[in-house]
Amino acid sequence: MDSIIVRGGRELNGQIAIAGAKNAALALMPATLLSEEPLTLTNAPRLSDIKTMTTLLQSLGAEVAPMRDGQVLALACHGAINHVAEYDIVRKMRASNLVLGPLLAREGHAIVSLPGGCAIGARPMDIHIHGLEAMGAEIALKDGYLHARAPLGGLKGAQVDFPFASVGATENVMMAATLARGTTVITNAAREPEIVDLAECLTRMGARIDGAGTRAITIEGVDRLHGATHPVVTDRIELGTYMLAPVLAGGAVECLGGRLDLVQAFADKLDEAGIEVTETAAGLKVARRNGTPKAVNVTTEPFPGFPTDLQAQMMAMLCTASGTSVLEETIFENRFMHAPELMRMGAEIEVHGGSATVRGVERLKGAPVMATDLRASVSLILAGLAAEGETVVNRVYHLDRGYEQLVRKLSGIGADVERVHGQ
Ligand code: UD1
Repeated sequence: MDSIIVRGGRELNGQIAIAGAKNAALALMPATLLSEEPLTLTNAPRLSDIKTMTTLLQSLGAEVAPMRDGQVLALACHGAINHVAEYDIVRKMRASNLVLGPLLAREGHAIVSLPGGCAIGARPMDIHIHGLEAMGAEIALKDGYLHARAPLGGLKGAQVDFPFASVGATENVMMAATLARGTTVITNAAREPEIVDLAECLTRMGARIDGAGTRAITIEGVDRLHGATHPVVTDRIELGTYMLAPVLAGGAVECLGGRLDLVQAFADKLDEAGIEVTETAAGLKVARRNGTPKAVNVTTEPFPGFPTDLQAQMMAMLCTASGTSVLEETIFENRFMHAPELMRMGAEIEVHGGSATVRGVERLKGAPVMATDLRASVSLILAGLAAEGETVVNRVYHLDRGYEQLVRKLSGIGADVERVHGQ
């Protein structure tokens, strides 16, 4: 297994190009199942999660061409398709569940394995099921698979009120509703930028959607969707991750393609910590010229709140801030697995349930570490950039799921980081 070796203590300066959003692309790709015509996604990221979704869509009968110019994903799905999403593929990634809504809308039935994904909590699918059932679907769980069937004549527009603003459930129901009979109104919908991006793509395909990005989304069903070309929105989590690199290591880094509206709550916390974030013509620039960042308290929330997907990276930064910070994780119940690894590097952290108290120390020390999920892994890379000595991050396959060319991007701003190929 490959590892990444980080030798800390170098100041970081320069530019990093931020890729298209993994989480947006993973929702956009299944939208190809809603049309007989081609869907082309530009600014797509090169990640193993995208390969997993490609394999899944191909297993359903879609054509996915090898990525062109490293960024263009051409998808098409004409003719008869398979409606069974197999466990062997779905278990690799929770976002595989995003084929459920489109399959049901197109085929009238779908059999989709319950997903796997990051080990960060129970992550059930009850909210997705509730939404699709409101549209008339009958859904049963048999042998680890969801068996879903639309009523005769297809899904019906409905009032769908979510008990929690689930990102995936909002995407699944929004896609299903584009081809339903009548109008669907989702209330307490998720408001993440990836939802807005999916709505924009579906609209390009001929869907009628209003209110994406607010708590209430209205979707008027149409008879068919057509082909489209759509640019994937910037990855706000990759953006936030690289914005933290100079905060930990010192220096000034411009994140190309970055937009403040994608990371406002996060940027507000950096501001509170005394870190300068400026908008430039090409993106966002973060500078830590001198001084130590101040401790800040952080509570994760659905968008527009502080993203759970940046909690681990923020914790890494707060390990060497001056003072004591409290991080509250409200989205996932088991998302502090990076804490014991950071403690191996000398961090002082106490975890009590969904809350972690971090007492800033002067300096972290390099150590061999590993993590069991994507964002936890990258938090260890960030910590390694600031640490004295060598940090070896194992289980690099987590990073390959969500960070394209991580080593090249960090080396480009002056980090001493290399990937070592294991057995
Ligand atoms: C998406 C993101 C993930 C991010 C998360 C929260 C993708 C591919 N992944 O995941 O990176 O961390 O949003 O911002 O976009 N829940 C239920 N029942 C459900 C669905 C969800 O209880 O039917 C719970 C989950 O267990 C979790 C919380 O709701 O505790 C948030 O889940 P959700 O918003 O659905 O996240 P995902 O779409 O899985």
